[in-house]
Amino acid sequence: MSATVIVGTQWGDEGKGKITDLISGDYDYVVRCAGGNNAGHTVIVGDTKLGLHLMPSGVMYENCTPVIGNGCVIDPGVLVKEMAMLNSLGISCERLKISCDAHVIMPYHKVLDGADEKRLGKNKIGTTKRGIGPCYQDKVARRGIRMQDLLDEKIFKLKLETVLERTNAILSKVYGLQTFSVEEILEEYLDYARILGKHVTETAQLLNDAMREGKNILFEGAQGTMLDVDHGTYPFVTSSSCCSGGACTGSGVGPTRIDSVLGIMKAYTTRVGEGPFPTELFFEENGGTGQDAVDGETLCQVGHEFGTTTGRKRRCGWFDAVVGRYAADIHGLTEIALTKLDVLSAFDTLKVCVAYECNGERYDYFPMQQSVLFHAKPVYEELPGWKGQDITEAKSFDELPENAKSYINYLEKIVGVKMKYVSTGPDRNQTIIR
Ligand code: GDP
Ligand code: IMO
Ligand code: MG
Repeated sequence: MSATVIVGTQWGDEGKGKITDLISGDYDYVVRCAGGNNAGHTVIVGDTKLGLHLMPSGVMYENCTPVIGNGCVIDPGVLVKEMAMLNSLGISCERLKISCDAHVIMPYHKVLDGADEKRLGKNKIGTTKRGIGPCYQDKVARRGIRMQDLLDEKIFKLKLETVLERTNAILSKVYGLQTFSVEEILEEYLDYARILGKHVTETAQLLNDAMREGKNILFEGAQGTMLDVDHGTYPFVTSSSCCSGGACTGSGVGPTRIDSVLGIMKAYTTRVGEGPFPTELFFEENGGTGQDAVDGETLCQVGHEFGTTTGRKRRCGWFDAVVGRYAADIHGLTEIALTKLDVLSAFDTLKVCVAYECNGERYDYFPMQQSVLFHAKPVYEELPGWKGQDITEAKSFDELPENAKSYINYLEKIVGVKMKYVSTGPDRNQTIIR
């Protein structure tokens, strides 16, 4: 029996989907435990490229059961479409299990997400507008609707009537927007329930029973350290616990059962949406100039840094070791998968941020006040690159150029966690295991 947690260590999009898919074959269950379809996890096998939003990346393996845990928020319409897409490719979703306690994203959550962002104007968070925040708000306010509620029309109707009374008042009186009728939502969501109902179950019990039988469980994190509602760059975060601890609360598996925590870490940094990002290399369109703007654009173009979920251009910057060390602590990382190293083959020289400086003070750890982070200047170390040397076919660490090995060894030392996997391309087999 083994239980491994995979987590994002930066601002999401580190390549969690690729690494989850890579190792899923060794696991009996792959479990999503936080977030919803704000996530976009890319899995590439041969000529097939899949952007998964809700379905756990282990779905590709026939012996692996995908589980959507209680910590997730589910837009049932999106899930039904994703299942149809997978089925059309010959990938069966029959084994999918959905937690009866997972909360349901309703149409009004999506409207409220957009309305809130509009209200915030230039202070907006830059959400994916998938209704994630408003759904988690209803969850903690104890008025949310759960998957189990969809299975009982009487209970569903009662809960919907209660919540709509309040939500409609907010929609019309605060935002001047159209309200929703119980009937229209009921009709649409009962249709989803008819399709999804057979997959809904007590997944906490399922997973604990499976572990007693010696089965292996992989928890597939979504988002990343810096988007965690407690530990990230609040309020520019998502609304869930995307750290390793969230794998326990989001699945019902206790911390004593977890053996290892694998952090997925990009060889540079990206971020989608608003909020502080100390190593950002501003694009020209965002006011950037000179070599920094060129380097930022190169990272974006060579790394294809465009959102899997919203298609937005991701902000790009050099590797930030302050973020890396913080992630190692917050998640309790036991090992790291370093991804997208091949993208750095485009540079003569590489920069790594080892600390921040603000108002004459040096910060080796995160500053207490976020205002400092907004104004922090990175303290960089420069390392020689391996420009022009293609590393996408390297099968072992020894086959990498000397400067690439030095870069990995340097990051490993400065972050303080072993880099067990090095990813040199999007494909499953473009991975070095050390
Ligand atoms: P996730 O949200 O953490 O699963 O990451 P995304 O799928 O949103 O973004 C990662 C992107 O990088 C995807 O397009 C992957 O196919 C791609 N990718 C993953 N690993 C590598 C790598 O080592 N090299 C390159 N060039 N692309 C990679
Ligand atoms: P994966 O799992 C990157 C960001 C949004 C926004 C903030 C809040 O693919 O790594 P939300 O819609 O969650 O309320 O938006 O969080 N965000 C992500 N950024 N990757 C993700 O997921 C993200 N999920 C949310 O861009 O800044
Ligand atoms: Mg993503």
